[in-house]
Amino acid sequence: MTDEPNPLLEGLRVRRRPDPCLLVIFGASGDLTEKKLMPALYALAVRRLLPERFGIVGAARSEETDDAFRERMKAAVQKYARDPFKEDTWNELAAGIHYVTLDFADTEAEGKLADRLMQLDEERGTLGNRVYYFAVPPSAIGTLVEAIARHRPPSGWVRLVIEKPFGHDLQSARELTALIQQHFSEDEVFRIDHYLGKETVQNMLALRFANGIFEPIWNRQFIDHVQITVAESIGIEGRASYYERAGAIRDIFQNHLLQLVAITGMEPPIDFTADSVRNEKLKVLKSMHTPGPKHIVRGQYGPGFVEGVEVRGYREEEGVAPNSMTETFVAAKLFVDNWRWADTPFYVRMGKRLARRETTITIQFKRAPHPPFEDGHTEARPNLLLIHVQPNEGVSLAIGAKVPGQGMTIRTVHMDFLYGGAFREGLPDAYERLILDAMLGDATLFTRSDEIEEQWALVDAIVAGWERDKPAFPNYAAGSWGPPGADDLLHRDGRSWRRH
Ligand code: NDP
Ligand code: BG6
Repeated sequence: MTDEPNPLLEGLRVRRRPDPCLLVIFGASGDLTEKKLMPALYALAVRRLLPERFGIVGAARSEETDDAFRERMKAAVQKYARDPFKEDTWNELAAGIHYVTLDFADTEAEGKLADRLMQLDEERGTLGNRVYYFAVPPSAIGTLVEAIARHRPPSGWVRLVIEKPFGHDLQSARELTALIQQHFSEDEVFRIDHYLGKETVQNMLALRFANGIFEPIWNRQFIDHVQITVAESIGIEGRASYYERAGAIRDIFQNHLLQLVAITGMEPPIDFTADSVRNEKLKVLKSMHTPGPKHIVRGQYGPGFVEGVEVRGYREEEGVAPNSMTETFVAAKLFVDNWRWADTPFYVRMGKRLARRETTITIQFKRAPHPPFEDGHTEARPNLLLIHVQPNEGVSLAIGAKVPGQGMTIRTVHMDFLYGGAFREGLPDAYERLILDAMLGDATLFTRSDEIEEQWALVDAIVAGWERDKPAFPNYAAGSWGPPGADDLLHRDGRSWRRH
């Protein structure tokens, strides 16, 4: 990579370029590497944000040569990267890409990988600094951690970037943490929840803490309730072996969704350092109690139409058991029991094969106490603050406004901030930000083990409650907004999900 001054670094407020290092991707033949990691690395290369001395080593069980791996990654970048493909940028990056065939259980092969990395350190001047990215199933992590510890280079730093879900339940997460702590310190571990890398999720922090107007009203006195929707129109995309074990509760509720609740509910951190931010999120997670059976709804999609295309039901997906009881949808009424939020419900829902892809945080304010306008001319809708996490990223405030003309008719209008209109630079993918932060050693946007344990404690309690009854699955049609029970959850309280 070139050493010229880089104006983009200023624009992106990156304080420094990462130290020279090797990025080792375990699981390099998998879906995540192809669709997310390599396109993100290419985007960083385009912006000259990668270290000057750098190399990528892919490792997985599949047999592959360096050249074949480079060709496959090139095709992935051409297909999935957000930037137009530039041959010279790719060639510069590809010159540092290598592949090692490795079965994680094979201790002889692990020695070969270690030797290859030492050799590449010499060739590329990467000083023994290593980022190890675990794009592998959770069951493979323990073996790999021990292998890395056995072959720690004599000099240089080590960072472990571990994908979600971290463990399968509270106990396995604790065991994994204990294993990691035998060999590595907390500041060497980066547990990814890629939602924290999304610009719009970070903007929630900016919205709340860089503006004076929201904080005074961000509480139970002014907010009626919060709604969080993480809706996907896609199904399980050939990931049955993982999804059948995980279900919606472990795939998204345990991590992305609870992190959105934590960011919405947290107190202002004293500064934007990893521990200050994580301490405040942790307090929210600790304040949540297990929803009772009436306050949690699960669903599984049957056949239907998504965006006009006919799709099969979950039980008909390849690799799924015909009588599978795995949930693909969860809705819940959650409470954060603290001074700020007591008695203010957080209604959350998330699922696959819903009507469309949409992640939104809706803050619904209490109604005006006494609108002095004539009945019948007023749309008595409460104010909403909508944080559009994706797509159409932005923030929108719904307010009542007078319809022009005689009389006083009020209608809801929206004051909108759209990223596309306000900023010229397109939104980076979450993985760009997170890979760069891991290289820089900044863990602010990664989750700490105590947060993850609180998240698992809540999920374990919900799952234990589910063992007592078996819902009649499938209970929602693909392309709908989930089972009727999800609507009842709010209707019982005289509320409804925001319609789209
Ligand atoms: P895949 O199943 O597509 O890939 C798994 C990878 O792990 C393959 O490269 C596989 O190698 C390798 N692997 C598994 N076991 C071994 C072994 N014993 N020895 C060597 N290699 C092994 O999974 P994904 O890429 O989808 O997911 C990886 C991780 O990322 C998971 O934790 C997932 O939850 C997480 N994630 C994935 C997302 C996605 O969009 N895919 C999004 C967010 C998180 P081989 O095939 O060569 O055997
Ligand atoms: C992953 C889940 O963590 O997030 C997937 O494993 C899901 O099932 C994905 O599709 C959604 O991410 P995004 O960024 O597309 O909302």
